[in-house]
Formats: sequence, C-alpha cells, structure tokens
Amino acid sequence: MMNWNDCIERHNTHSVKWSFSDEEIIPMCIADMDFQVSEAITEAMKEKAKHGIYGYTTFSERYFRAIQMWWKRRHDLEVDREWISFSPGIIPGMNILLGILTEPGDAVIVQDPVYYPFYSTIENHGCTVLKNTLTYKNDHYQMDFADLERKAKDPNTKVLILCSPHNPVGRVWTSEELGRIAEICLKHDVWIISDEMHGDLVYEGNTHHPLFSVGEELKQRSILCAAPSKTFNIAGLQTSILLIPNQELREKYEHKLLSFGMSRPNAFGVEGTIAAYEQGEQWLDELLMYLEGNRQYAINYLQKNIPSVKPVAPEATHLIWLDCSELGMEHEELFEFFLVEAKIKFDEGYKFGPSGSKFVRMNIACPRERLTMALRRMDEAVLRKRVHDRSGLI
Ligand SMILES: Cc1ncc(COP(=O)(O)O)c(C=O)c1O
Repeated sequence: MMNWNDCIERHNTHSVKWSFSDEEIIPMCIADMDFQVSEAITEAMKEKAKHGIYGYTTFSERYFRAIQMWWKRRHDLEVDREWISFSPGIIPGMNILLGILTEPGDAVIVQDPVYYPFYSTIENHGCTVLKNTLTYKNDHYQMDFADLERKAKDPNTKVLILCSPHNPVGRVWTSEELGRIAEICLKHDVWIISDEMHGDLVYEGNTHHPLFSVGEELKQRSILCAAPSKTFNIAGLQTSILLIPNQELREKYEHKLLSFGMSRPNAFGVEGTIAAYEQGEQWLDELLMYLEGNRQYAINYLQKNIPSVKPVAPEATHLIWLDCSELGMEHEELFEFFLVEAKIKFDEGYKFGPSGSKFVRMNIACPRERLTMALRRMDEAVLRKRVHDRSGLI
C-alpha cells in the first residue's frame, strides 16, 4: 500500500533533482516525483533483476498491446500497432524528427513560455525558433491564433512543436483549440509534433484530447510523443514512445534511429513500460488525488499568505507556474532569491522564454510535509524582503 506522505531520502541516489552540495535545499525543480513507483513496477524490476541477464533487448507483442490498451482506455484513442516507434526519450526522438522534417534555415514554431529543450532541439538543426507567444491575461494562458497563422504562412515554417498539456503553464487544450491549430497547420503545410508527455496527469474537470482525435487528415501530418516516464515516475528507465501514422516518415525515423544505434530499449525499460500500462491505473488514480490535494493546498496557501506570488492554476501536470512579477525581480535574480533566501530550487522561468522571466516553476510532486515546509520558507523569505525593502525606503 502506497504511503504518499512518506518522505523518501533521495540524496546520494544519482538523482539529478537531488544532486547538489547544500543538503538543506528543497529541490522543487526537474519534472520527476519524490514518490515511489507502483508495486507492480517494483515487482517487474525485481523479476528482471533476479533473472540476472541483461543482454540486448527488443520489444514484444505484449509491449505494443500494453501501449495500445492504455491509449484506448485512458484517452479513447485507437492506436495502430505499426504507428508505434521507440525513442529513449522524447527529446532525442524530436531531434531525429526535426532532422528529417527540416533543412537548415527553416523555421519551427513553439508556443512560449515552453519546455526549454525545445529551443536547443530546433537550433541543433540550424533552424530558427518562431515564438507564437501564449497570451497571459487574468492568470490564464491562451493561444494567439492570428499570430500562429501569420507564422505558419511563412514558407520557411515547416513544423509546430505543440506541448499538450502545456509545460509549464498547465493548460489542457480544448478540442476547439486543437481543431484551430490543425486547420492552420494543414492549410499551410506545417507538420505538428505533439508532445503529450503530460497527458495522463490531468486534474478532474479537464480532459486530455490527443491531437490525433482531431481528424484523419491530420494524422498524416503529425506525430504524437508519449511516454510512461512522467506518468509513472520512471524517466530513468528511458523508454519513450513516438506514434507516427505517416508511413514514409516512420520509415525514415526508424532508419535514423537504427543508424544512430538508438533503436534498442533498456532491458528494465520494457518491463517497466508493460507493468506501468498493464497494472498502473489504480496507482495513477491515487497519485492524481494526492496531487490534486497538493495543488489546492499550494494555491490556497499562496493566495492567503503570499499574494505577491500568483500561481497559475494548472489544469494538468505536477508543476505550478508562479507569477512573481510583484516581487520586483526577474531572470537569474528571482531564481537566486528563492535559492539563497528560501533554500528552494525552482526551475528558472526565463529559461522557458523571455515571457517567463518573472516566473519560476514549482514541482509539487512531493509529500505534503515537504511542500508545506517549502511554502513556509517562501513566505518567510518574501516577508524578510518586504521588511528589507521598506527599511531601505525610510
Ligand atoms: C513536455 C516535455 N517534453 C519532454 C520532456 C523530456 O522528455 P525525455 O526525458 O523523454 O526526453 C519533458 C520533461 O520534463 C517535458 O516536460
């Protein structure tokens, strides 16, 4: 039985999130979770470990079926067996795709502020990043379709990287919004890479719509990126999934994957994926309930005690985008303020694009006790800053 309140020690475990010298710091950065995986995944790992042979590994029909069943059950999407391609991570897969879909000098659209490795992925291929900046009004983000159309129309524009649900702003795009994007991109011959990595982490009252649900025509002009890694906290197992209905593109993708020596999965990754998708549903539902509690708790706490830090209430993801513009700091100074004064490591908002320079991103996938401690530290740090600013004025 999972105890979501357990504070499990992660220092000295090679965790990226927990590897830094000052052990007092609470890491609320990096999108992995401080929760243990489901019993089913642990058992699958133990079984594999017991076998004691970890040679070159391949996929089984059971692996493909587990993926198909998951998407059907959770998202009502029929996935053809042959669409399913592998990648050790979404970002390596996206890199290969952009290598196929673009030439140096082409342009790729992103909707910033957005998961920042998208930028380097685009630049790796000598392409220009076109920012279709999201509109931020009344603590809510929306797409700017007029600007998207202008950018899609440019003959150099070859691809839109869609983040759905959106990291970091937490939006779950409606089917109407997805329909408008599809219409614009189809009209101007722009491919869509839809990163749906956070699609399972959706809060009640919202529904994740896979991009493919928008229509048949779009499937031939888009790619859906998915993974059990965010949902089930197994990013270290390095098994991601690319759904590529367009046969020509899929063949090119798989050829590249093979030529880079990246086509074989991690032996534990395959077992983890199967265990997660076949048996992880109850664990995920419990996780979502716990995260909902954390989300409510953090938002209420901030609104009541630290009104100068405004949370953008996420509809999905275990991340909260915090608008800190009233603190009067931005960029590195804002990040450093929380690191030094509150001993909390957030993700720097400016990395997600200039539109994020007055924000930080907070990961709430941790036991409530740790979240409470972090919020108190923020509260005290902001209070000290207010007193300090006031004394400077006198
Ligand atoms: C939207 C999004 N895409 C991709 C990734 C990274 O994927 P991977 O580790 O599989 O490359 C993340 C990780 O946080 C993410 O939030």
